[in-house]
Amino acid sequence: MNKPQMLMIGYATERMLGQLAESFTVHRMPADREAFLAEHGGDIEYLLVNGHGGAPAALMERLPKLKIVSNYGVGYDSVDVATAVPRGIMVTHTPNVLNDEVANTAIMLMLTTARNFLHDNAYLKAGRWAADGEAPLSRSVAGLTVGILGLGRIGLATAEKLGAFGVDVVYHTRSKRDVPYRYYDDLTAMAQDVDIMICIAPGGPSTLKIVNRQVIDALGADGILINVGRGSVVDEAALIAALQDGRLGKAGLDVFAQEPNVPQALIAHPNATLLPHVGSATVETRQAMGDLAVENLTSFHATGKAVTPVPECRDM
Ligand code: NAP
Ligand code: 8YV
Repeated sequence: MNKPQMLMIGYATERMLGQLAESFTVHRMPADREAFLAEHGGDIEYLLVNGHGGAPAALMERLPKLKIVSNYGVGYDSVDVATAVPRGIMVTHTPNVLNDEVANTAIMLMLTTARNFLHDNAYLKAGRWAADGEAPLSRSVAGLTVGILGLGRIGLATAEKLGAFGVDVVYHTRSKRDVPYRYYDDLTAMAQDVDIMICIAPGGPSTLKIVNRQVIDALGADGILINVGRGSVVDEAALIAALQDGRLGKAGLDVFAQEPNVPQALIAHPNATLLPHVGSATVETRQAMGDLAVENLTSFHATGKAVTPVPECRDM
């Protein structure tokens, strides 16, 4: 029997490719997308995407037989779920398997930013240690208050790990959770009270630029903003202006508004520590995410049920 046709867009591990080939005829999206879609779009039933390109409405329109979109990542803001659901297209993602890794990234980025380690690394390599005698001092995080924007699966893992660093943890979400951390129903009020804010909220319309000028100013000239959620959550222009004016102390960013394009003003700013969206990017965690992304496709093919549907598709 012919295997169903699957389209894969973006990165996949060798193990994923081997697993997928057992159940599907796998196509990788070539550079000439238009020619591929014209020839094969009508046959594709299964789609594997990553969080970067996702599955916009314009792509799904070209795939009339599409049954499922498996997103290789937990954040699925780049998949147009509002288009998928009325067409009966299942959407899945990869929650939980990356919690530890991304929480570790958030904390490492917080510590690196607060302690100026990347600057110190450059300082030593430039020979300035020997010339100056001592590197500039940085800040201790112990005793500070850390506010987490988005206390979901990864946010909670981050809060629990922060317990080891002698900081006071508070949080902001839309709904209060039954957790031993102080809750703020207002983001600006939380920013006013904390020294460091870690954003681990999803993208999408409800979070678009909610870290705005008012929130950034509330964080203040000694404040540190860490973002490992989505670039769209922060008003990037307001962030750049605040760093340039000295109204915000420092920023540690793993995500950006228009990836992979990072504004030159951020790259040039000495108080910005920047990573190329590597929160989950270890071999082990990407493999666990890949296994789950593949399992969603194979399970759906074999049983009609997905393993980890997004909340909007749980009743499908
Ligand atoms: P999750 O379990 O769904 O948690 C999301 C949290 O954000 C919840 O606490 C939710 O609480 C809160 N939230 C949602 N909308 C909000 C709003 N408008 N205002 C305030 N809080 C809001 O998701 P997760 O698994 O922890 O993942 C979180 C996000 O991390 C992903 O969606 C993705 O964008 C990002 N991520 C980044 C990387 C990376 O490599 N940097 C890796 C993995 C994930 P309420 O619903 O109560 O508001
Ligand atoms: C990945 C992520 O970089 O899971 C997410 O939401 O942002 C990251 O883990 C990305 O989605 C890879 O596809």
